[in-house]
Amino acid sequence: MLAIITGATKGIGRAITYSLANKGYDLAICSRNLRDLKEIKEDLEKKYPKINVLAKDTDMRKKEDVLAFSKEILSKFDTVDVLVNNAGVFISGLTHTEEEGALEFMIETNLYSAYYLTNALLPAMLNQHSGHIFNMCSIASKIAYPNGGSYSISKFALYGYTKVLREELKDKGIKVTAILPGATWSHSWAGVDLPKERLMEANDIALLIANALELSSSACIEDIIVRPQLGDL
Ligand SMILES: NC(=O)c1ccc[n+]([C@@H]2O[C@H](COP(=O)([O-])OP(=O)(O)OC[C@H]3O[C@@H](n4cnc5c(N)ncnc54)[C@H](OP(=O)(O)O)[C@@H]3O)[C@@H](O)[C@H]2O)c1
Repeated sequence: MLAIITGATKGIGRAITYSLANKGYDLAICSRNLRDLKEIKEDLEKKYPKINVLAKDTDMRKKEDVLAFSKEILSKFDTVDVLVNNAGVFISGLTHTEEEGALEFMIETNLYSAYYLTNALLPAMLNQHSGHIFNMCSIASKIAYPNGGSYSISKFALYGYTKVLREELKDKGIKVTAILPGATWSHSWAGVDLPKERLMEANDIALLIANALELSSSACIEDIIVRPQLGDL
């Protein structure tokens, strides 16, 4: 069984990667930083010697990078069982004052990344008549909030894409799940002065994915909305 996780070296993606390694999945992971990828690949292979790990530096904004990643996945593994479209960036701001190019940057990273990779891998999943796609949306996919800016636009769009995919794939044996987390400790919250318990742990999101994978083939969790116990920040 193969799980593909984008943005796997930090935060939520890293927690998902270790959780699925622990469940015995082979892994295909990516991020933009080759040193981080080497470190995580070595660590995974040491801790889980039975699994195969493909770690490829890939800028998920760039279609040619995504296609090279998918080509290598399809040449090295026989099945595509789990795809977690997790890579994403958050830049806060107001749509009318944020830095020029913020919308394009976040649409490319948070939406096109998932669209390119899913399209490249779907023929294999359709052929198998199985697979499970998780798109890492956000509470910002559902509600606008101050300083959400173009991040919120990109996450609304990713959620919309997820709903379209679900409709397209429900009779093809492929599950599609939108994950909509609230604030979760990760690299993107580094240096924020808040008590630990105010945010969720990245491992909470990993646990939700692991649990969703336990359901029978006749059940699909469509949306996972999860917030800190104390609510949104
Ligand atoms: N943390 C939260 O509170 C929260 C809440 C809701 C939703 N989310 C979503 O959850 C996902 C993960 O967030 P996180 O907080 O865990 O972020 P993070 O700690 O900043 O990690 C992001 C990961 O994505 C990679 N990445 C970023 N841009 C990339 C690109 N263009 N191509 C390939 N990899 C890329 C990063 O590695 P490199 O930088 O080395 O490429 C890193 O591995 C994102 O989609 C985010 O929007 C997060």
